[in-house]
Amino acid sequence: MLLLEIDGLTYGAGDKTILDDFSMTIEPSEVHALLGTNGTGKSTLAYLIMGCEGYMPSSGEIIFEGKTINTLKIQERSKLGITMAWQEPVRFEGISVSDYLRLKNKDINPSYYLEMVGLHPELYLHRMVDKSLSGGERKRIELASILALNPKLAILDEPDSGIDMLSTQDIVNVISAFKDNGSSVLLITHREEIVLIADRASQICNGKIVCTGNPDKVAEYYKSRKCFVCDGEVCAYV
Ligand SMILES: Nc1ncnc2c1ncn2[C@@H]1O[C@H](COP(=O)(O)OP(=O)(O)O)[C@@H](O)[C@H]1O
Ligand SMILES: [Mg+2]
Repeated sequence: MLLLEIDGLTYGAGDKTILDDFSMTIEPSEVHALLGTNGTGKSTLAYLIMGCEGYMPSSGEIIFEGKTINTLKIQERSKLGITMAWQEPVRFEGISVSDYLRLKNKDINPSYYLEMVGLHPELYLHRMVDKSLSGGERKRIELASILALNPKLAILDEPDSGIDMLSTQDIVNVISAFKDNGSSVLLITHREEIVLIADRASQICNGKIVCTGNPDKVAEYYKSRKCFVCDGEVCAYV
């Protein structure tokens, strides 16, 4: 059975169609990369899968482990095993990194998860999750917290972008850790080199999947033409 099936999802804001009859699948334990230039609807898709407040598709279905989850709230989806690393993680005041990683499960070893994301436990366990952390440190801690949740599906929205972006090697390490746990990953990115660590890749252009296949093939198309269908421009592929 598929872990996630998105079938004909359409979503707009105002008079703008952001996702246009969008369909894709994710298998159990699959790392599926979603590659597309800025503004093509990647984060919007992530919010729709996660069930964020105000994100209700106008048509189509989001099916998780065979059940439609369109009407489930974010907390209910998280209980099913869906979780997300935000493109810009929020900061909390007054909670230590150690407690933050153990929020859902007190029995995990926080040091293990910090090492997975390249942070030295002795230096970080007792830091506060607040403004004293750099953007890159905060992003790593967010990824560690998601690993610690042991989700069925982790949505990673551009872990490779931002002011203090993670290196490709950091991301490879994190993805390997998810794979070792048997988690599936939806890896959202606009950098073609990141796609190569996935099992399968899809290219999104203007709210639609334009191709799905071997990561190296999809990355090659993206590098040379930007879009499989429209040859460089953001396409109005229908
Ligand atoms: N609430 C909204 N109202 C109007 N336009 C929006 C809204 N949210 C996103 N958009 C637009 O939809 C497009 C897709 O956004 P987004 O999903 O963030 O793209 P990506 O993550 O691929 O860069 C962008 O052009 C963005 O400006
Ligand atoms: Mg985005």
